[in-house]
Amino acid sequence: MLWEWITSTLTICPPAARRLGYHREPAAIRARARRCREAWAPHLANTRHLIMEMAGRFGRGGTLLVLGSGPLLDLPAPDQLLRHFGRVILADIAHDPGVRWAAWREPRIILDLVDLTGTAADIVAGRPLAPHCDAHVGTAPDLVLSLNILSQLPLTPRALAAEEAGETAADTQAAAIVQAHLDHLARLAAPCLILADVERRWLDGGGHIRRREDPLAGLSLPGDRLATWPWTVAPPGEIARDQAMETTVAAHLLPP
Ligand SMILES: C[S@@+](CC[C@H](N)C(=O)[O-])C[C@H]1O[C@@H](n2cnc3c(N)ncnc32)[C@H](O)[C@@H]1O
Repeated sequence: MLWEWITSTLTICPPAARRLGYHREPAAIRARARRCREAWAPHLANTRHLIMEMAGRFGRGGTLLVLGSGPLLDLPAPDQLLRHFGRVILADIAHDPGVRWAAWREPRIILDLVDLTGTAADIVAGRPLAPHCDAHVGTAPDLVLSLNILSQLPLTPRALAAEEAGETAADTQAAAIVQAHLDHLARLAAPCLILADVERRWLDGGGHIRRREDPLAGLSLPGDRLATWPWTVAPPGEIARDQAMETTVAAHLLPP
């Protein structure tokens, strides 16, 4: 689609990540969110509500660090967040024109273009992967959000590992990436709200579960569980007429 092509072209993305196609993600997510507006509404409302609760609890006029900000679909409006924080850092591997515009209009919104897995450049260079990220460690944010990103981080590296080395190696790679993100959150040493898929279910046209997947590659979320809810990511017709995909989202609070 022309609109998606224009948006992808104007999306900023590190060169290695662009080679891997990450710049096309924001437009694809926005398009899916529009098509699935009704099915996604409860998930987006739950997420925004919990974020505002945590903002009220931990906001001290300092920094809110958002890891996996994407096209900001699940983030409350910036003016609401800026009542609790002096600045909001949006960290993602790709920032589309809508997000760039939001940051241009509001100087307290800062964009950080970062590969949170530390693997994209190594994939492109054909080097062995050593998932790791130290972004913002030592900066003492008031609150960190890991915003519906944990299950997404392994997707591209896992798919490439599966092609080259098979499913077992791909699973090991995925687990290493999930663990590296959890280690990163721990090193940030700040209160952290983790929102992540903890189970993925594939259903047939009759609504029967045909397959369950573990999006966290065998790892568990740390911290205290605050809530869980189902999210119909792809209602019937989105991927195929007789197929649907839903996840269970869990919200965990990691104390500082
Ligand atoms: C499911 S989306 C969630 C985005 C955002 N929370 C929202 O709902 O608008 C996953 C996000 O992960 C980002 N992402 C995937 N791999 C990444 C990586 N290696 N480093 C940083 N961000 C990554 C994508 O760009 C995308 O914005």
